[in-house]
Amino acid sequence: MSVPPLFTPTRMGALELPNRIAMAPLTRMRADNPGRVPTGLHAEYYAQRAGAGLIVGEATAISPEAVGWADTPGLWSPQQVHGWRGVTDAVHAAGSRMIAQLWHTGSLSHPDFFDGAPPMSASAVNPEQLSSTPTGRKPTVTPRAMTRAEIRRTVADYATAARNAVAAGFDGVQILANFTYLPAQFLNRATNRRTDRYGGSIANRARLVLEIIESVAGAIGPERTGIKLGPMHESGPFTADDETLPTAEYVVSRLDDYRLSHLLLMGATHELAGTPLADLAGDGMFRHFRPLYGGTLIASVDMDAERGNRLVRAGLADVIAFGRPFIANPDLPARLATGAAPADTDWSTVYAAGPAGYTDYPALEPVAA
Ligand SMILES: Cc1cc2nc3c(=O)[nH]c(=O)nc-3n(C[C@H](O)[C@H](O)[C@H](O)COP(=O)(O)O)c2cc1C
Repeated sequence: MSVPPLFTPTRMGALELPNRIAMAPLTRMRADNPGRVPTGLHAEYYAQRAGAGLIVGEATAISPEAVGWADTPGLWSPQQVHGWRGVTDAVHAAGSRMIAQLWHTGSLSHPDFFDGAPPMSASAVNPEQLSSTPTGRKPTVTPRAMTRAEIRRTVADYATAARNAVAAGFDGVQILANFTYLPAQFLNRATNRRTDRYGGSIANRARLVLEIIESVAGAIGPERTGIKLGPMHESGPFTADDETLPTAEYVVSRLDDYRLSHLLLMGATHELAGTPLADLAGDGMFRHFRPLYGGTLIASVDMDAERGNRLVRAGLADVIAFGRPFIANPDLPARLATGAAPADTDWSTVYAAGPAGYTDYPALEPVAA
């Protein structure tokens, strides 16, 4: 019997992956210390999941002003680099590879993170979302528009965080450029009202994310630089409009110029019927974008073994990312291989503190021969 596609090796940039199963980035809010430093608990959690050919670390703030979610880690201080080194060493010792996800929340942050000062974004437009503050979820506020100097500094902060990631032992990075975070705030017409070279046309709105790619790839090499992108249909000003798809197409079709290690493309997370993204429902996302990108494509959202094998076999994806299934199944690849039933997630502890619901999900007992 031939090996199912998910369990065949592949190359991603500088990395050889022994299988095509990736652990998707999952924010778990366990960096509940003032320095936002990953701990031995993080190391244990990720090492438990090292059956994945690739682990994409949780969203990690590139700088203090990028922070916008309580108890999430960063990658700007020596202490954080040291903490992450413990994590990457544990993952490598357990046999996997791990990349860091670089995060700037922009207007999704909150004045509670900045002594009352507003967060910054492309323009002074309230994103009308909820911010996860140290004292719970609160409505976002109107941010202030970034100056050109702040844009330059932020682009440089991405490169610094990428260098820190390599110093911490990560095998590469992924720029988080979708959902409602800073790069998406620039890409999206409703939240970017700028009249300078970072606003207006699609090419101008995409300038920031392309500058971030160049800056990170210039710092650590394109073969260690990837990106998470994809058109989203969210709420408020992030409701998809007639430029959401052309904007995503423009950015994705530029990626081959940079010879990046990968594109993580999220499938539909909302019902898309009746929206400008209707054609992207189901596998439509991957059918639409696969022809626009020649590098390693990681497909995400609502995957199982059957769908993952089918997408790889059809050439619509090279690697399949699993997010929620990895929470309660540290040995998910083994379960996918054997068809063993996945364990259920206790959602009350997903964003809690400590080991409960984090490192205490058991692997299946090895079956005696
Ligand atoms: C608890 C939780 C935390 C998440 N954190 C992140 C994150 O830090 N960065 C990111 O890009 N996506 C994040 N996501 C999205 C997942 O990576 C993934 O795209 C999503 O869960 C859909 O895939 P799935 O069906 O395999 O779970 C998160 C999702 C969940 C459920």
